[in-house]
Amino acid sequence: MEVKAFHWKGDHLLLLDQRELPHREKWLRLENHIQIAEAIKNMAVRGAPAIGCVAAYGFVLGVEKGEDPQRVYEILSRTRPTAYNLFWSLNRMKRALELGRDLQKEALNIEKEDYQANRLMGEKGSELIPQGAKILTHCNTGALATAGWGTALGVVRSSHRKGKRITVWVNETRPYLQGSRLTAWELLKEGIPHRIITDMTAGFLMSKGEVDIILVGADRIAANGDTANKIGTYTLSVLAKAHGIPFYVVAPSSTFDLSLREGKDIPVEERSEKELKRCGVAEIAPSDSPAYHVAFDITPAENITAIITEKGIIHPVTKANVEKCLSSV
Ligand code: MRU
Repeated sequence: MEVKAFHWKGDHLLLLDQRELPHREKWLRLENHIQIAEAIKNMAVRGAPAIGCVAAYGFVLGVEKGEDPQRVYEILSRTRPTAYNLFWSLNRMKRALELGRDLQKEALNIEKEDYQANRLMGEKGSELIPQGAKILTHCNTGALATAGWGTALGVVRSSHRKGKRITVWVNETRPYLQGSRLTAWELLKEGIPHRIITDMTAGFLMSKGEVDIILVGADRIAANGDTANKIGTYTLSVLAKAHGIPFYVVAPSSTFDLSLREGKDIPVEERSEKELKRCGVAEIAPSDSPAYHVAFDITPAENITAIITEKGIIHPVTKANVEKCLSSV
């Protein structure tokens, strides 16, 4: 069964509070851009494409309530600095306003296009997945992280529906546990065989030949293909290289930031150390010990076997191939 992270209701947004999953399906009713900005910042909604969609609805709500559009733009854009879809989507909304377009329609189109892109990536990506593949994935890149279906998890979903008999290793993804809480929840609903592992188990499984393919999403991709994604992705890419395992990034064209030459130019979000020193409600570290909570890392293009987009597959990952793929219609 396919799940949905949010529903636009014309004058408000219903948002599934992802902090409560998998224990409780609690829906938040968000009526203005401030509430939407808060929901993005505090991770009630997360995943770059979903953030982009929800921010577009926040822009609609703010502007329709007579707020200054530039101020609305700033409040929404100061929430998650790495997720490029956020800026892509807000820039598109600002442009629609300048052109006098219907803002609700524009936001609905952003959502619809993201869903269609995911279905296309699922279709193209599933052709790369052999029968019986043991797939490893990180974070949550499913319906919850997008307008529906998912990016990397969308490829998993499409492969399963094609009868490929896949199994999935789910990295739990410290500290927010997007893997064990959200990806496992989606896989269960879809009836896809899976097992949750600690992030540290991945290397051991690779050394035993238990991983055939790694599929991850992206928060922002620079012009040369360097990719920012959930912390731990870079480590997986190095392990994949050492073990000769194909490492695929699955992301729509709206995640590419061609204004940045390479990965080191991508702003990487740091979050509160409190989030790292807690697991749910339990304190798991001395309160006086300082911690470093960086939410993303950068995987160099040379570690990525291919990037699967809705426009085609980028392989090998080079600046020229990124340009060629994204400029195709
Ligand atoms: O901090 P999060 O949960 O927003 O991070 C999400 C990821 O890293 C995803 O891999 C990425 O946004 C792509 S989701 C389709």
